[in-house]
Amino acid sequence: MKGLILSGGKGTRLRPLTFTQAKQLVPVANKPVLFYGIEALKEAGIKEIGIIVGDTKEDIRAAVGNGDRWGIQITYIEQDQPLGLAHAVMVAEDFLGKESFVMYLGDNILKDGIKSLVKDFKKKKPNSQILLTKVPNPQMFGVAELKEGRVIRLVEKPKHPKSDLALVGVYMFDHHVFEAVKAIKPSWRNELEITDAIQYLVEKGYEVQPHLVTDWWKDTGKIEDILDANRLILQSIEGKNLGQVDKESKINGQVMLEKEVKVERSIIRGPSIIGRGTEIKDSYIGPFSSIQKNCRIINSEIECSIVMQDSEICDVGTRIDESLIGREVSISKCPPKPSVYRFMVGDKSKIEIK
Ligand code: DAU
Repeated sequence: MKGLILSGGKGTRLRPLTFTQAKQLVPVANKPVLFYGIEALKEAGIKEIGIIVGDTKEDIRAAVGNGDRWGIQITYIEQDQPLGLAHAVMVAEDFLGKESFVMYLGDNILKDGIKSLVKDFKKKKPNSQILLTKVPNPQMFGVAELKEGRVIRLVEKPKHPKSDLALVGVYMFDHHVFEAVKAIKPSWRNELEITDAIQYLVEKGYEVQPHLVTDWWKDTGKIEDILDANRLILQSIEGKNLGQVDKESKINGQVMLEKEVKVERSIIRGPSIIGRGTEIKDSYIGPFSSIQKNCRIINSEIECSIVMQDSEICDVGTRIDESLIGREVSISKCPPKPSVYRFMVGDKSKIEIK
């Protein structure tokens, strides 16, 4: 069985971060979201993975490499334009051939991985297996309608959903899916929807097996979801101190301090993770914080946030909470007079002030 990870697309809901980086490379607990998918496929015994890439292909390649680091083989498949998930399957036909495959959306994270689901698919051999989970906002997802445990209808982001069962971004198919993706027409948003391709399989009498996921799953397409995923992953982090902490500092709970981290006169409460070479002085880092490598946090307070590499936060008088701070960002205090805010922020940034 092969793997197909979708890492193209535009990431418009995560601008401005996605003006300069792929949404699948945004770090959750200091690891790119995409790596969670690669590791889930590897753990399920899949050794050959194709990654669909678009405009951000160079960054994805640079971050992922050829798969050696995981002992798997990675092939990059270019999709000229993000014309839909079913279009991505079409583009990957040569790579996939006649083999069954798992399609994994590169911005999704499933807590429990997919090992048992792949095992189940291999044993029962349906034409497709889809994962469903109950959500409070089904109109934001592909939605499935079931009758007596069988899939009868699938609709992409319906205005009036017939159920609260959303399609999770992990699907399993045999080669019949190629017949489906070639038969369907683009949707109102001009995309070839995988949801329509699965609906085609249902209508043609192919076996589409639904599987209910009860543990947490996150589509990290929006900032709230990234911060949520960060919280959920950090909950199971193990504390370890590979850095230097002075006597005046306190580390409470599960805190991972990577090599060359320096902590002085500060409090860090877990679960949190601090990346290599980061300095924390006279500061408070609260639970559910992920600070990437080579940052400087000086005389400031941060909680439930992600700070990406090479950023600096100095003398910020109020606690920073539920924030996603990009790479090489500088946040500091203005001189006392005149009393002003001073900004240099890129397009589509979002700043909330009191
Ligand atoms: O996350 C689950 C949802 O994912 C499902 O419930 C929906 O049925 C499914 O259509 C999908 O919806 P999204 O609107 O969240 O899909 P998005 O455009 O975010 O794309 C998902 C991933 O696939 C993302 O990593 C980008 C990549 N992609 C997307 C498109 C449209 C591609 O590689 N190529 C594409 O053409």
